[in-house]
Amino acid sequence: MELKNMENKDISKGVGNKINIGLFGFGTVGGSFYRILDIRKKEIEAMLSADVTIKKIFTRGNRNPSIDNIGNLMVNNADDILNDKSINVIVELMGGIDPAKEYIEKAIKNGKSVITANKALLAEHGEGIFKLCKKHNAHIGFEAAVGGGIPILRSIKNGLAGDSITSVFSIINGTSNYILSKMTNEGGKFDDILKKAQEKGYAEADPSFDINGIDSAHKLVILGRLAFAASISLKDVIIEGIKEVSDIDICFARDLGYKIKLLGILKNDDSKIEIRVHPTLIPSASLLSNVDGVFNAFFLNAKFAGPISLTGYGAGGMATASAVMGDFIEIGGKIINSEKHHDIFLNESSNKVQIKRKKDIISRYYLRFSAMDRPGVLAKISKILGDNSISISSMIQQGRKIDGSVPIVITTHEANEEELLKSIELCDKLDIILAKTMILRIEDNVN
Ligand SMILES: NC(=O)c1ccc[n+]([C@@H]2O[C@H](COP(=O)([O-])OP(=O)(O)OC[C@H]3O[C@@H](n4cnc5c(N)ncnc54)[C@H](OP(=O)(O)O)[C@@H]3O)[C@@H](O)[C@H]2O)c1
Repeated sequence: MELKNMENKDISKGVGNKINIGLFGFGTVGGSFYRILDIRKKEIEAMLSADVTIKKIFTRGNRNPSIDNIGNLMVNNADDILNDKSINVIVELMGGIDPAKEYIEKAIKNGKSVITANKALLAEHGEGIFKLCKKHNAHIGFEAAVGGGIPILRSIKNGLAGDSITSVFSIINGTSNYILSKMTNEGGKFDDILKKAQEKGYAEADPSFDINGIDSAHKLVILGRLAFAASISLKDVIIEGIKEVSDIDICFARDLGYKIKLLGILKNDDSKIEIRVHPTLIPSASLLSNVDGVFNAFFLNAKFAGPISLTGYGAGGMATASAVMGDFIEIGGKIINSEKHHDIFLNESSNKVQIKRKKDIISRYYLRFSAMDRPGVLAKISKILGDNSISISSMIQQGRKIDGSVPIVITTHEANEEELLKSIELCDKLDIILAKTMILRIEDNVN
């Protein structure tokens, strides 16, 4: 994309180009988008050599209480925007699948370009929406859907377009990272910390999408599609949340030199792609393990460029709206230059890749058995693991009972997940095992 007259800040005046925006949603991100345009209008118009205006705003009827003087921009019918021929771009910041999907599709059919931060919609219906964009020659931007203010998608699409990404280790859910960081750094139980996070507004009233790994999976699908130019859907993702991670596991992980993080993992070994979200033990000395609180992070490995990392605010109104504005400027430039829709990452010939199934994963594992306080327990567990080709790397056995049982923690060398699960099923049937064994994966090389 070539932006005209970047060097001349005043050139936009009198050029006659106009870009009119229809804004759907005027909450945390929508309000911040409005604010950024208000603050940077002059520079943005100079970059685009065009007058840029938010012409209409649609919500369920509510105004944004933190923004005054918006005049009569509010409309109460979506069609007032969708059928307005003078509006060339819609910015969808409502969230949810319906009616966002309907509005976006109608906008595209009516020849408008679209910018959205809606990860759930793109993860579930992205491919259909991208096809529609191609058919109707509409541009689409969705940088803010993954990693909030971190320009991860643009880095992959532009900076790494000539490279081949082999792996991505990411922290892409602020709520989960906040809870696990608190449990690690200050101690405490999952439920208590979640409650405090909700009181402070760091977690939603219904946090299930965040703590069950669904939100991370949505983002990982979008990231994977771009990283591997591949057709990936939500059902391809192995998803496990953080609800089962206890303070006991956090302590044992620390003793073993690890921290537990909810990771979004992509791996491409040239034949199959792995795409998974789960709590993971990563070395305490790694940079990724020190990304705490509501921060997000992406640690990539590219074949030629090598390791690359990006860290920053994965959420928050202004940070997320900054990414939305980045998309707007890129798409605005394309509109002004009458560029055709062209996105090599979103075309239909996306690689039909093979996805690695859960049973084929090879990983190291952390296992916490809840055993009776009896001699011979360890011998029985070790025999089952050995009989199933699971080799032990380290072991911690504490004499002290926790919740009525003695924890035995074993880490394994690399093992096949199917064989591991088979052996744990056998262990859990032993009369000396009192509760379901905790299984977590270990990643030693995250950066
Ligand atoms: N907040 C973040 O930090 C963040 C980060 C990354 C991505 N995102 C994404 O950005 C999008 C917006 O998030 P947000 O945090 O700004 O949400 P929000 O604060 O809840 O605001 C949502 C806005 O959309 C409007 N809206 C919702 N449903 C609607 C409907 N059915 N019809 C008409 N208007 C509707 C709401 O209007 P009313 O007030 O009238 O209900 C409100 O103005 C979501 O897709 C979210 O996943 C957010």
